[in-house]
Amino acid sequence: MAAGHGKIILFGEHAVVYGSRAIAAPVPLAVRARVVEEDDGVWLVVPRWGVEQRLRMDPSKQRSFEVPAALILNELGLTDRSMRIEVFSEMPRAMGLGGSAAVAVAIIRALDRHFELGLSDDAVNALAYQCECVAHGTPSGIDNTVATFGRPLVYRKGDPPQIDPLELPKPINFVIGMTGIESLTAKMVARVRDGRKRNPDVYDTMFKGIDAVSGQALEAIRRYDLERLGELMNVCQGLLNGLGVSSWELEELIQISRENGALGAKLTGGGGGGSMIALCPDNAGQVVAGIQEAGYQAMEVRIG
Ligand code: MEV
Repeated sequence: MAAGHGKIILFGEHAVVYGSRAIAAPVPLAVRARVVEEDDGVWLVVPRWGVEQRLRMDPSKQRSFEVPAALILNELGLTDRSMRIEVFSEMPRAMGLGGSAAVAVAIIRALDRHFELGLSDDAVNALAYQCECVAHGTPSGIDNTVATFGRPLVYRKGDPPQIDPLELPKPINFVIGMTGIESLTAKMVARVRDGRKRNPDVYDTMFKGIDAVSGQALEAIRRYDLERLGELMNVCQGLLNGLGVSSWELEELIQISRENGALGAKLTGGGGGGSMIALCPDNAGQVVAGIQEAGYQAMEVRIG
């Protein structure tokens, strides 16, 4: 089946919307999709979300999950074809792990295969970016890029964006802790935008600080200096908290991780809810157990 990858942002979320660098990597959670024959219009089926319905082309009648699917069909000139688009997601919804971009990429690739459109990865990525624009307003484009290419990368927004593959000397272990509270990226991006309007100097200084942290993190990754990397994650979290995108639950998960021996911990993605990541080279089990004891979900991931 066609796939779109989920992701974690290691460094640089939010600041990336304003031109700072960000570092992201795929996680082993994906969204898969396939297109099957159907002779009665376009059907959208997402078992995990309890969705099985005819896709409405009238924008005023569409629910949020229909909007990207309709946009994709429009852009690919397939609105007059009948089909059943089946989407299978391994990813929890709105947990800051890039689910919406992964859904868009999986659907585009499934259509590409079924109708033999011959789309390049760049074309898939560009269309997924359009979907992100409808969903989030002003996305940096990092989520669709990782969802498409499925490899660790350094990203800087631009036209075209700068996308540098990131080679890790050895894999790095992280724990993802999930707050269980939906993270609405559009809302958090808007919160940062409003804050910046009220106080541009301070916000731009924080974005620059995050860019510097991302630059130092790249050096730490290349040297495989995990103590330093963890320290930089903690600094990044402080800046993200300053931007107003952390939450009580995220802070709790971060504290639990640090107390259980994580080298560093920070929120990942839009924040406000969603997920955090903890750097756990050899104590991931203990951090996962600590998070679960507090009533949250956690999983180990190996990046690189
Ligand atoms: C969301 O995964 C990352 C943000 O930086 C938004 C974006 O880059 O589009 C919060």
